[in-house]
Amino acid sequence: MKAHKIAVIAGDGIGKEVMPEGLRCIDAAARKHGIAIQWDEFDWSCDYYLKHGTMMPADWKAQIGNHDAIFFGAVGDPARVPDHVSLWGSLLKFRREFDQYVNLRPARLMPGVKSPLVGREPGDIDFFIVRENTEGEYSSIGGKMFAGTEREFVVQESIFTRIGVDRVIRFAYQLAQRRDKKHLTSATKSNGISISMPYWDERFAAIGEEFPDVRTDKFHIDILTANFVRRPDYFDVVVASNLFGDILSDLGPACTGTIAIAPSANLNPERRFPSLFEPVHGSAPDIYGQQIANPIGQIWAGSMMLDHLGYPQAAADVLRAIETVLAEGPHTPDLGGKAKTGDLGKAIAEVIAGN
Ligand code: NAI
Ligand code: MG
Repeated sequence: MKAHKIAVIAGDGIGKEVMPEGLRCIDAAARKHGIAIQWDEFDWSCDYYLKHGTMMPADWKAQIGNHDAIFFGAVGDPARVPDHVSLWGSLLKFRREFDQYVNLRPARLMPGVKSPLVGREPGDIDFFIVRENTEGEYSSIGGKMFAGTEREFVVQESIFTRIGVDRVIRFAYQLAQRRDKKHLTSATKSNGISISMPYWDERFAAIGEEFPDVRTDKFHIDILTANFVRRPDYFDVVVASNLFGDILSDLGPACTGTIAIAPSANLNPERRFPSLFEPVHGSAPDIYGQQIANPIGQIWAGSMMLDHLGYPQAAADVLRAIETVLAEGPHTPDLGGKAKTGDLGKAIAEVIAGN
């Protein structure tokens, strides 16, 4: 059997503490399901930057471009390296140059985690946000003229290409089709943004014809955010442009509790380039060094990676083990416990091996 080659980039701060637990748990699932994984570690980080003057070597693309995936911790050491240097020098390069045009985030209320929404129980909230990750409102097309005069103005264009819109919407339909509810919601604002959003709606309807078994609806972004809070149980898969998706992909997981357990995937679904799997949280310099970081975001990201590599059973096993440990403990301090990072990783790996 050919081993899957995974590039491991732990990065900075608690990235270095949670990554070993991610590897431990994914190894446990791989052993159980007979999956061969080869981890290749890269020390690209702010430490690397302070030694070499760049976040990554010049040939980074050649070094990891043929790997099956990137398992990423977090970058950022704001006391020593400005955040725009660390983020633009690594994470954002992967997203752009590996054409990771889907940002996928689950919003799932887990046992043992208190939702900030009153009266919601585990099982009530379980949906995915699919965000367009390469174009839309986040373009660098535009400029400033007549600077410093009365006529000063700025222009920044939104870019919606047919290829870019169709591929992310099609990914969302395919995801919805694999799920029980088969329900896809589109985020729009065609009442206010009168050219690009009607176009988004038009492509959403056109691609829907390929998926007659998927039930669809669309909401304007303003009322959609309200519904994330009021009726989170209603949603199954939600697809959105880059800007709307950025907002929804923070709001959705926020409705399900703590940032420390939320994962995120940056996908190139055609697999021309490696996809990247990471926890949502950053390098948390405020708690780094104490071994109290919650490793669940990293481990859950590993579960998404197993799913992407073609092992849905192994991925589900990891998710179930996370749920068991969230329900029964041990818990790290962010969830009110006293356990260390490694205690959680070991407990989750044991559940994976034993069930
Ligand atoms: P952060 O996510 O690192 O921390 C925010 C708060 O949440 C802190 O109080 C932290 O202690 C807590 N927290 C985060 N993860 C936790 C975990 N696993 N267990 C327990 N508590 C946890 O965000 P912040 O402080 O805004 O950024 C710190 C650095 O991380 C900056 O350099 C920033 O640029 C970088 N960053 C990197 C990201 C990435 O690599 N994808 C994402 C977000 C921030
Ligand atoms: Mg954001």
